[in-house]
Amino acid sequence: MLNLTSNPIEFYNQNDLTIQSPTSGISLRGSLSIPGDKSVSHRALMLGALAQGETRIQGLLLGEDVISTANCLRSLGADISELTSETVLVKGRGLGQLQEPLDVLDAGNSGTTMRLMLGILAAQPNCLFTITGDRSLRSRPMSRVVKPLTHMGAAIWGRQNNNLAPLAIKGQKIRPIHYYSPVASAQVKSCLLLAGLMAEGKTTVTEPALSRDHSERMLKAFGADIYTDYETNSVTIAGGNTLQGQLVIVPGDISSAAFWLVAASIVPDSELVLTNVGINPTRTGILDVLGKMGANITIENKKIVAGEPIADLRVRHSSLQGCEITGELTVRSIDEIPIIVVAAAFAKGTTIIKDAAELRVKECDRLSVMATQLSRMGAKITEHPDGLEIQGGHPLSGAEVASHDDHRIAMSLAVAGLQASGTTVIKEASAANISYPNFFDSLQQVCC
Ligand code: S3P
Repeated sequence: MLNLTSNPIEFYNQNDLTIQSPTSGISLRGSLSIPGDKSVSHRALMLGALAQGETRIQGLLLGEDVISTANCLRSLGADISELTSETVLVKGRGLGQLQEPLDVLDAGNSGTTMRLMLGILAAQPNCLFTITGDRSLRSRPMSRVVKPLTHMGAAIWGRQNNNLAPLAIKGQKIRPIHYYSPVASAQVKSCLLLAGLMAEGKTTVTEPALSRDHSERMLKAFGADIYTDYETNSVTIAGGNTLQGQLVIVPGDISSAAFWLVAASIVPDSELVLTNVGINPTRTGILDVLGKMGANITIENKKIVAGEPIADLRVRHSSLQGCEITGELTVRSIDEIPIIVVAAAFAKGTTIIKDAAELRVKECDRLSVMATQLSRMGAKITEHPDGLEIQGGHPLSGAEVASHDDHRIAMSLAVAGLQASGTTVIKEASAANISYPNFFDSLQQVCC
């Protein structure tokens, strides 16, 4: 174990991290440029590969999930330059022009890679593909995309009645459908829109609440014939239109900014400025939730960049109150629920999170894992089938906790550790590299 007195945040081996909150307390101060949005980064690479001509991507996220997407696309013949956060060049192959890979495609830990790629692969005629992922991804449900794709004429096989990867896909000519998705899922919607691009006729996806709309915005920018009916939460795409390569400027990921929004809110005497954060309304549930809790966040320098709204977010410490998160607000903050649970543990009163059963099929069962791990630190949390009830305001103390190899759990527990007394050990904290490679360096940088 390292001497922690000089540095409160240390990796004591490659994976596991110690956070020792000094008795004198810490505060978080400074400015952070938030790394690129993961959802937008995946889509920029995929549309770039399917388009004609060159796509330039600025600000790509260099997280492991995005690297998985780039590697899959390269195996399919896409010419993608070295991945940097400056400029990445993708030379598109054109719709239906991907090539049969020599080996199994590996989506790693990334649900977005696997589900969106399935839409692309299912519609590549005369090719056979196999795709797999890590242990977590191999246990996540794929029938939510396999079933509607099968209705479109796709041929896909997998374990447990075609639900689990590894999956084998025989590319086919695809038919359009109107699909009523039982879940509000951008991965399901995007998968079917990508398949629909290659079908003859119009494909419509209707969802119970509007999920993130990055695919729709980017497909439109690349020249697809696509429109959204906001009254019915339906998106329709016409097949057969070629895509044209574009300049994509990736905004900072609000899901990554969320850790700082909560950290600075709960750590006394803190003030952080987070620059270039995407504030697409389908993603800003975290701002609404923290607003309800009484957080002190101001939105500055709003502008539209390459079809997506961005802004700087200034957050100062404040005293938080519990609140209720349900329905559409849960959908718009789905990836931020783990860090919202941390905010709730430090807030006065009760926070109730409902309609969040989807969290049970993320990189891990995020409801169960957050409840168990934060309870180890002294939080009072009751688990329900579709959510959590958190009795806030009980002081937390350091403990050994596990991220279960889930990036968002690792970073959420680290934020909790900042305000817990004593030492918190986070096992598998390096999982943060999936979506936020320099998170712990930035944490050290802003700790004072
Ligand atoms: C994502 C959609 C969401 C989200 C995931 C990224 C995307 O998943 O949780 O982190 O990029 O489309 P679901 O579509 O399963 O809700």
